[in-house]
Amino acid sequence: MEARKRILTGIRPTGPLHLGHYAGALENWVRLQTTHDCHFLIADYQVSDYADDIARVREAVWEVALDWLAVGLDPERSAFVIESLVPEHAELAVWLSWFLPLGMLQRNPTLKAEMEDFGRRSVPVAFFTYPVMQVANILLPRAHLVPVGEDQLPHIELTREVARRFNRQFKEVFPEPEALVGRVPRLVGIDGQAKMSKSLDNAIYLKDTPAVVNEKVRSMYTDPTRLRATDPGHVEGNPVFMYHDAFNPDREEVAELKERYRRGAVGDVEVKRRLAIALNAFLDPIRDRRARFAANMGLVRDALADGTARARTVARATMEQVRDALDLGYLEKFRPNGG
Ligand code: TRP
Repeated sequence: MEARKRILTGIRPTGPLHLGHYAGALENWVRLQTTHDCHFLIADYQVSDYADDIARVREAVWEVALDWLAVGLDPERSAFVIESLVPEHAELAVWLSWFLPLGMLQRNPTLKAEMEDFGRRSVPVAFFTYPVMQVANILLPRAHLVPVGEDQLPHIELTREVARRFNRQFKEVFPEPEALVGRVPRLVGIDGQAKMSKSLDNAIYLKDTPAVVNEKVRSMYTDPTRLRATDPGHVEGNPVFMYHDAFNPDREEVAELKERYRRGAVGDVEVKRRLAIALNAFLDPIRDRRARFAANMGLVRDALADGTARARTVARATMEQVRDALDLGYLEKFRPNGG
């Protein structure tokens, strides 16, 4: 039997997950569980920007695990892995950093943008080098596929480069992983900003209650050029319609609303009301599953412990190959005085 190809992907534990995570990544993860050997990583080494709030990171580990279970990731099939409990990540990252040119890291557009967000606060070295850790995350389980949001593509490029260099110079240890971006590569925020994100405070969370969802949708940014419901409106670039497209399965309803909106025959209130209904219908089963697991946190802990143990077994096997490739057994092999 041919072994299934492996997936490694991850999320930083900084808080609960939102609709952007779902449409950009999680939806793919759920689907791919049936065809791939999946490792889902909670990247708790990758949060040096939260060093002054470790309690929040610890709390967020549980939030992320609950959201994963809520959307249907299955810990029996797939390994839920806590990054720092597989310390081989750190060991491998140090070796791999030998093969990553500084210039490639400095030019990484995602990293550059994130470092600018620090403003006048100083950037921890660990933040600058987090893409190296991410390279190690992906190569340690020798993953073939990395389903991620669009912003992560530069990191996958680094990973491929490091894998190529290592394999060429030493031994063929690492597959060159492919990236896979979700159906909605970048979901706008409810405020119309380019990206839904916790730090911009413009997110709808998978765990938001129906009342919170209604309120957030009511406050959503729409077509700023439209003053009255009888004015012809713009559908393209309108966040309310982008969400309809992404989450409302009733295509006929969406088409009809768009048509009336363009004519000036439906108001924002109605379009938003229908969106809130669609979003709540989508989120209801997710919220139900989340509540069931939240009432049984022992299961969540077991999922994390089992998955981490499985990942560690794979990690040890890879490190054997890495040590062999880099000739790190030199002390044991050494025979003093020809003996
Ligand atoms: N940096 C990713 C993010 O911010 C999270 C992450 C950590 C990741 N390790 C990974 C993604 C490995 C893919 C593969 O979303």
